[in-house]
Amino acid sequence: MDEYTEKLRNLIQLSDRMTIFTGAGISTESGIPDFRSPNGIWSKLQPIQFQDFIDSAEMRAEAWRRKIIIDKDMQKALPNRGHRAVAHLVDSGKCQTVITQNIDGLHQDSGIPDQNVVELHGNGTYASCLQCSLRHELEPIFEAFNRDNTLPVCRHCGGIVKTATVSFGQAMPEEAMRLSERSTLSCDLFIVLGSSLVVFPAAAFPQIAKQNGAKLVIVNREATDQDRIADLVVHQEIGQVLGDATGVD
Ligand code: APR
Repeated sequence: MDEYTEKLRNLIQLSDRMTIFTGAGISTESGIPDFRSPNGIWSKLQPIQFQDFIDSAEMRAEAWRRKIIIDKDMQKALPNRGHRAVAHLVDSGKCQTVITQNIDGLHQDSGIPDQNVVELHGNGTYASCLQCSLRHELEPIFEAFNRDNTLPVCRHCGGIVKTATVSFGQAMPEEAMRLSERSTLSCDLFIVLGSSLVVFPAAAFPQIAKQNGAKLVIVNREATDQDRIADLVVHQEIGQVLGDATGVD
């Protein structure tokens, strides 16, 4: 075990109330591409702004085309060693809250109860109506779209249906923000796993935790702007580092 992993293990052992904050980097070892690594999603596509999705049927069609492609990776993805190590920390009672920017549902699939996962950017495993919030399953939407490019509308109110994720320009989910702030302010250790920390307001939480007196750890392949305020920075693969630090295979 290298010195960084040893330091991480010690910080975990000293912590009573840990909050874990994850980004796309924890899911790359499950086969889901991240956004800002050299071959990440935003190296090939431009994000679709929320207002454009609302205003233009063509942008909605483009969004569903992308969703069907990305969903192929997501459908077959399984939790990896990093997810299992996070689940172990929740199961042990050391970690009360996992704040995730990810929409893949892999933290829940690893066995973490829903009430311990806060999905800051929503969830991509289902869709919902933007007017009345009614949940819509993806399967029939994909079938209709693949058949004749049918765009989904709400079966209850006729409103626009969108995957239950938060797009650029869309309001953040209030309850998720409230729960994230509460767990950020109540933890003694805040661990960032696999995020470039460039998208706000999510990326403010590590700073808030540090300013509030928590120890801050960042485990990320590449450097982030917040490395300079962290107590420990580990530029290595999450699965190996966190697996070794927690003794999880
Ligand atoms: N181990 C460690 N770090 C990794 C690994 C890995 N196996 N794989 C990738 N990384 C790192 C990359 O180096 C990168 O810095 O994870 C980081 C992922 O950063 P982003 O791709 O920017 O993802 P994220 O920070 O989650 O993006 C935030 O941006 O596009 C929006 O809504 C989207 O939730 C997303 C938000």
